[in-house]
Amino acid sequence: MFADTKRLLEKARRQGYAVGHFNINNMEIVQGIVQAAENLKSPVILSTSEGALKYAGMNFLYELAKTAASLSTVPIVLHLDHGKDLTIIKQAIQIGYSSVMFDGSHLPFEKNVTMTRKVVKMAHKQGVSVEAELGTIGGAEDTVHSRTIVYTDPLKAQEFVRRTGCDFLAVAIGTSHGAYKFKGKAFLNIDLLKEIAMKVSVPLVLHGASGVPHNIVSMAKKFGAKLKDVQGVPDAEIRKAVHNGICKVNTDTDLRIAFDAAVRGFVMKNPSDFDPRHVLGPARDSITKVVEHRIKVLGSGIKHTKG
Ligand code: G3H
Ligand code: 13P
Ligand code: ZN
Repeated sequence: MFADTKRLLEKARRQGYAVGHFNINNMEIVQGIVQAAENLKSPVILSTSEGALKYAGMNFLYELAKTAASLSTVPIVLHLDHGKDLTIIKQAIQIGYSSVMFDGSHLPFEKNVTMTRKVVKMAHKQGVSVEAELGTIGGAEDTVHSRTIVYTDPLKAQEFVRRTGCDFLAVAIGTSHGAYKFKGKAFLNIDLLKEIAMKVSVPLVLHGASGVPHNIVSMAKKFGAKLKDVQGVPDAEIRKAVHNGICKVNTDTDLRIAFDAAVRGFVMKNPSDFDPRHVLGPARDSITKVVEHRIKVLGSGIKHTKG
């Protein structure tokens, strides 16, 4: 039913593209993402943060993703994003997620190794693959935050992967979560990424990768959103990262801004229409457009049918 994350990412690495990871919180977001994947015949990773699980419940999001996967012709993965709570990680493994992330990036190195190793043992017994993180990605979301960026050390990354047995590794090369990623010039440390990719054998993951596209931000602003000095990762930097070893690219903020802009636009233009289907339908379409754009940037939109 769900695709195997590890196999999908290893194939992406061999063939030189990346698979998009998109955060899900409700049905419209799931449908919008999967529609884009179908339109472009691309695999896609649906991902739930602990915040999303608190909002919607694991059973609801699991069933939504399962339904989407069973109706689709492309490989769909269900992944746990930034898992920190071992109880939630265990539940995700038991219910049938394809992969889980253990985020020990806030822990001292040795503790991160020990905890990641523990999650790897637990997950591998059930055929679930594990993403780990070394270094810190900046920025703040509901349940994911770090004030500063600490770049990943390539030698430490090599040791970390060897000792933990993790299946893919999230690296810090200059991105942050959220809409305020750079104060000056927006760039990624591609030289560092090259060094990490030379030392580490598993697929690499880029968090905090939203592009915060100008067209969506202007639409949200036009309808009242206060988004001052936002800046995302330019598409050209994402392409360079994919070219140099990134196989999984995480996007949430772009979906949030697109959803918000469409809802704001609809309610402002149609003050007497209170049908939630009319309000949320355009938001779902906006999600599809954002995801299609990301799939094109990542190069995953080719004939990836199931099986
Ligand atoms: O990386 C973090 C994701 O954007 C999830 O954010 O914890 O607010 O759901 P959240
Ligand atoms: P953005 O905030 O850049 O969308 O990053 C999302 C993310 O990394 C989810 O894990
Ligand atoms: Zn993240």
